[in-house]
Amino acid sequence: MKTKIINTPDMLKAASRKKSATVFMPATFDKKDQLETLVKGEKYYIHTYGCQANVRDEETMRGLLEDVGYKQTDKPEEASLIIINTCAVRENAEDKVYGEIGNLKHLRKKNKDLVLAICGCMVEQPEILKKLMETFTEVNLYFGTHEIAQLYSLVYDVRTTKERVVAIESKPGEVIEITPACRNNTYKAYVNVMYGCDKFCTYCIVPYTRGKERSRHFEDVLRECQELIDNGYQEITLLGQNVNAYGKDLDEGKDFADLMEAVAKLGIPRLRFTTSHPWDFSSKMIDVIAKYPNIMKFIHLPVQSGNDRVLKAMGRRYTRESYLALVKEMREKIPGLALSTDIIVGFPNETDEEFNDTLTIVDEIKYEAAFTFIYSPRKGTPAAKIADNVSYETKSKRFMELVKHLEKHIEAHSKTMVGKTYDVLVDGVSKTDKDMYSGYTEENKLVHFKGNESMIGKIVKVKINESHTYSMMGEVVNG
Ligand code: SAH
Ligand code: SF4
Ligand code: F3S
Repeated sequence: MKTKIINTPDMLKAASRKKSATVFMPATFDKKDQLETLVKGEKYYIHTYGCQANVRDEETMRGLLEDVGYKQTDKPEEASLIIINTCAVRENAEDKVYGEIGNLKHLRKKNKDLVLAICGCMVEQPEILKKLMETFTEVNLYFGTHEIAQLYSLVYDVRTTKERVVAIESKPGEVIEITPACRNNTYKAYVNVMYGCDKFCTYCIVPYTRGKERSRHFEDVLRECQELIDNGYQEITLLGQNVNAYGKDLDEGKDFADLMEAVAKLGIPRLRFTTSHPWDFSSKMIDVIAKYPNIMKFIHLPVQSGNDRVLKAMGRRYTRESYLALVKEMREKIPGLALSTDIIVGFPNETDEEFNDTLTIVDEIKYEAAFTFIYSPRKGTPAAKIADNVSYETKSKRFMELVKHLEKHIEAHSKTMVGKTYDVLVDGVSKTDKDMYSGYTEENKLVHFKGNESMIGKIVKVKINESHTYSMMGEVVNG
């Protein structure tokens, strides 16, 4: 198969952050009409790994595909277009993708028109792309996180030329408003407020795969939120790798606190945001969260480590002390606040004492939820070059110990919920019991209860009867 290379990734270009104003580009859909004539009524299959940024990208791609007459299927063998939307944040995320492509590649033999595409963060890494292209000659389209607006012309080219197409440009990136999106959910939605990341934590691949920090126009975000409210949405989550850096690249005189306040005032019943970096979490933001009852009293505040040497080596820009001071201010100003976090265990050369500082910060803060990871070296990041003297066995032991500490506090918090009544936004029915429904409290606790279909997408009152570590059992009160 011939390969048409439009662009290939380059880590140096991906890391470039020349001071330049954010570029806004109109969405121009080259070859849309031609593709529509070609594929109308055909089916697509899409599988997304990774974070909410990828989930939101999937919704954009689905919106584009359905607009030219593609129908979604959950059976890859029925599809004439298969898209695997990948994540590169840790090695195990990548391993799953190798497995899935291995299972799908034979479909190319059965259908000569099949477009088998890999996109997302994995292909933004030059060495991974090379490995994928060598291993899976069946894959005939690779495109990056900056190429979503070109989806029509890329798919059309593969279909009509029968060549393999590679389009992955490493660049700071633009803001392109692509509508309509085909949302995965009818009552809760993610709304991008900004893209990319400029923090360059030394272990992290995201700044290389997603480009520079760039914000959408204030009015564009508000318009999207208003549309969701008009369509009956109950919950909006404002999305970005660092939402609290919002607006720094624009000269609109607005920051994330202003944006959150404006969205809260539109009257969405539940407003959330993720992720916020402790480094630019302002007092103004805390005040806005405290002031508006429809901003959920839940903050995801990744700490990564409780030790200053490790935090510095990670490039996190805060100390244990300043993180604790931030949490203190949050808890003082926001009664009932629930905090969750991300923690990395086994950063290169982390000592027992340094790891112990992570345990003590966990014991001090008593998070209500946490995501824990064993450090995974990402090629091209500064941390991956550090010679590491900690064995995987030690890292695994530390990981288990950390989880024990976290669970003790999460369980204790869950117990305090028993007997109380909470607002729960109902998500859906259990796979194993058709009478059991589930949903999340304002503090993001998962609750199971007896319900019925009419409750889905609504906020109901649930009294908690029983607590488990990661979920609650309750009963609906007052209908
Ligand atoms: N922008 C967000 C989330 C980034 S990725 C933030 O800064 O909080 C989500 C989490 O993955 C990170 O918080 C970190 O805990 C974890 N992570 C990122 N790179 C990793 C790596 N190389 N190894 C292990 N965990 C990693
Ligand atoms: Fe990665 Fe750090 Fe950016 Fe989060 S802030 S995406 S951990 S570089
Ligand atoms: Fe993964 Fe890319 Fe998100 S690396 S965590 S999908 S930004």
